[in-house]
Amino acid sequence: ISSLRAAGFDSLAVILHLRDNFFADEPLNKAVSLCKRGEPHAELEQLCLATMDDRLSIAAIQDDQNVQKCEDPNYHKIFNILYTVSRDLDIFNTFKVETLMECRIVSVDAAARGRGMAKELIKRSIELALEHEFRLFKVDATGHYSQRICRSLGMAELKKVSYEDYTDELGEPIFRIPAPHHALCIMVKELP
Ligand code: ACO
Repeated sequence: ISSLRAAGFDSLAVILHLRDNFFADEPLNKAVSLCKRGEPHAELEQLCLATMDDRLSIAAIQDDQNVQKCEDPNYHKIFNILYTVSRDLDIFNTFKVETLMECRIVSVDAAARGRGMAKELIKRSIELALEHEFRLFKVDATGHYSQRICRSLGMAELKKVSYEDYTDELGEPIFRIPAPHHALCIMVKELP
């Protein structure tokens, strides 16, 4: 946490925001009831802190705000789909790159949604990727809204996995996610 504070992030405020929003609302988290709103999640928070530690995270903060080994089987289900789908795409070889910038988490306070905040944050993340000379920007877009944003920012759909067709050994869907969220889309943008 101290290294993140040094990077200009109030990481504790970010984690509290994610507990109140992303942890409960992200479609895959919601499908497996990973967390109740406001609840902590050790492994997911570890991933969030490690991601912030990369020092490529950006946040839009209101002036007056303060701002892997999986033990949880539900967390395992989520990271299994994300990990295996990306692994099978062999992205580094396909795009002939050694590094890429991945937008792992996009989260907007429930009270501020639908005003273009997420689109602006992803747009700025792409600009950040360009500044850091990454040649590929990737998003594992787990829901309809993040997919709309990625498409509107010129990202291509590399792979779509329908949640209905992503089943266990008995043929039962592993994630039952209410509309409008239907699929996981791996979205990429090649950068000059
Ligand atoms: N109903 C209908 N359309 C909506 C809604 C809604 N409730 N919310 C957003 N949209 C549409 C917008 O109209 C817009 O589409 P358009 O450009 O075609 O008009 C698009 O979705 C994006 O809208 P934004 O306002 O930029 O998105 P917002 O700031 O509301 O944030 C987000 C979207 C981040 C998905 C938010 O709903 C959220 O925090 N959800 C919970 C966490 C989550 O699911 N994160 C994404 C997972 S994928 C990942 O993290 C890499």
